[in-house]
Amino acid sequence: MSQQYQHDVLVIGSGAAGLSLALTLPGHLRIAVLSKGDLSNGSTFWAQGGVAAVLDDTDTVQSHVEDTLNAGGGLCHEDAVRFTVEHSREAIQWLIDQGVPFTRDDDPAHDENSFEFHLTREGGHSHRRIIHAADATGAAIFKTLLAQARLRPNIDLLEQRVAVDLITERRLGLDGDRCLGAYVLDRSTGEVDTFGARFTILATGGAAKVYLYTSNPDGACGDGIAMAWRAGCRVANLEFNQFHPTCLYHPQAKSFLVTEALRGEGALLKLPNGERFMPRFDPRAELAPRDIVARAIDHEMKRLGVDCVYLDISHKPAEFITSHFPTVYERCLSFGIDITRQAIPVVPAAHYTCGGVMIDQHGCTDVPGLYAIGETTFTGLHGANRMASNSLLECFVYGRSAAAHIVDHLPHTALPELLPHWDASQVTDSDEDVIIAHNWDELRRFMWDYVGIVRTTKRLQRAEHRVRLLLDEIDEFYSNYKVSRDLIELRNLAQVAELMIRSAMQRKESRGLHYTLDYPDMLPEALDTILVPPTYDD
Ligand code: FAD
Ligand code: SIN
Repeated sequence: MSQQYQHDVLVIGSGAAGLSLALTLPGHLRIAVLSKGDLSNGSTFWAQGGVAAVLDDTDTVQSHVEDTLNAGGGLCHEDAVRFTVEHSREAIQWLIDQGVPFTRDDDPAHDENSFEFHLTREGGHSHRRIIHAADATGAAIFKTLLAQARLRPNIDLLEQRVAVDLITERRLGLDGDRCLGAYVLDRSTGEVDTFGARFTILATGGAAKVYLYTSNPDGACGDGIAMAWRAGCRVANLEFNQFHPTCLYHPQAKSFLVTEALRGEGALLKLPNGERFMPRFDPRAELAPRDIVARAIDHEMKRLGVDCVYLDISHKPAEFITSHFPTVYERCLSFGIDITRQAIPVVPAAHYTCGGVMIDQHGCTDVPGLYAIGETTFTGLHGANRMASNSLLECFVYGRSAAAHIVDHLPHTALPELLPHWDASQVTDSDEDVIIAHNWDELRRFMWDYVGIVRTTKRLQRAEHRVRLLLDEIDEFYSNYKVSRDLIELRNLAQVAELMIRSAMQRKESRGLHYTLDYPDMLPEALDTILVPPTYDD
């Protein structure tokens, strides 16, 4: 029997964005935080490098803003960049106050007036400004925030709950557009429950799983983007998919990232013959922004017909390597690669979704009562290419600003009346799950081949044709069979892929992460690609 729940705030997602919002809200509010798998299911847990912020007295907001604008290929919204960077110090202080064990600076030459935590460097940053917990920053942040959330009796942390779709007044045939909550599959009962809420927040992470090879965990399926789109929200800049230059290349090493902080601390990229190649592509060499480094690696791999390139930090003292990069060291060692003595085989893999649900500085979407925060959003911060470690920062800054906005609007917002149950009367158990597995593989393969690091109009047209066929097939399946996590994810992934392809086809230039052989130059005017859903009317 399906259940009805009511909360003041429904947060879909238990990563950096969702937890920071939940913890910033006042203790008298009844809050549900959902995760479709374990609570650690999202990308946050796997973040390595750290959080970018202006923390050292010798660094400036202006410098962080300029670096972000440069990395973003002329497409960042300067107001969003400035807003995020100006709030970076207080966001980090909040994390420190929550108890996040950031790595301290134990350099004997440390200047007493400068910041007490160690700051590392990554691509695009002209200054050391990445605060981190060795090379497992995401796990340290996640564990700390989760422990804090567990201490709050007003926060219900609900695992294995997959949001299927948002409930809006429009969907129920009522006057108005307001979001009233969500339908959520409880994986333990197989039932779809109804969650009513005064405010609903999408904190569902990115969509890099749309590609065959990715640094992301399995849940990164763009659920929030697809749900928001179906509910009537605009999305923007979905053609900008970031490929991280250095993921471990090994048959058994599924999705293992080798942090950019290695390059920040002096690691060099080399060809199989030991020759460095990045200086040929950019004066910043290994510390050029990610789009440039990933494209250079892709170019060299194709030119030489090799399966990978190499990242070498073995010239640094072994003690330095093992203390700064214990996670990478241990993981590589488990595959027989001793990074204190050997170079690491690496390849680019899909890593980050720069576009997403359009929001303002308070996290508000186009649908009243619906907020979105974190990687699922488009804020204008990242432009055509996200700068390293600006993503976690965005989660905290927007998570906290959305919480403040909700508090301001509480007095005028009532709990919705009891909502209709999910209608499962027309569906049966599927006897053909092979279709889901097949379509899942096909989608991720053609996205990798046709909508990858280097694109052409012909490849995009091929992808568009295939995704339309898949969408029809998935729609039919969805109408006839009971929902499962796999089906929900496939439906969303295919929807987001279609939006990505459509966005890529609209951009008749190469800029940042979108590089097409048919339009290799950048146009003089930088414009966002904004898609408007059919149900949305201005
Ligand atoms: P996530 O942390 O991805 O959380 C998403 C949550 O939503 C999960 O709880 C998931 O279960 C839930 N969810 C999704 N769909 C549904 C649904 N339908 N129903 C219910 N729940 C749902 N960024 C940096 O700034 N610095 C770094 O060092 C860094 N390193 C990274 C390393 C790796 C390997 C990866 C993959 C990413 C890294 N990033 C880094 C990017 C950054 O980690 C992510 O952008 C960020 O953590 C996203 O946080 P989030 O809260 O938006 O979403
Ligand atoms: C990394 O550690 O290289 C990832 C940083 C990021 O994605 O911002």
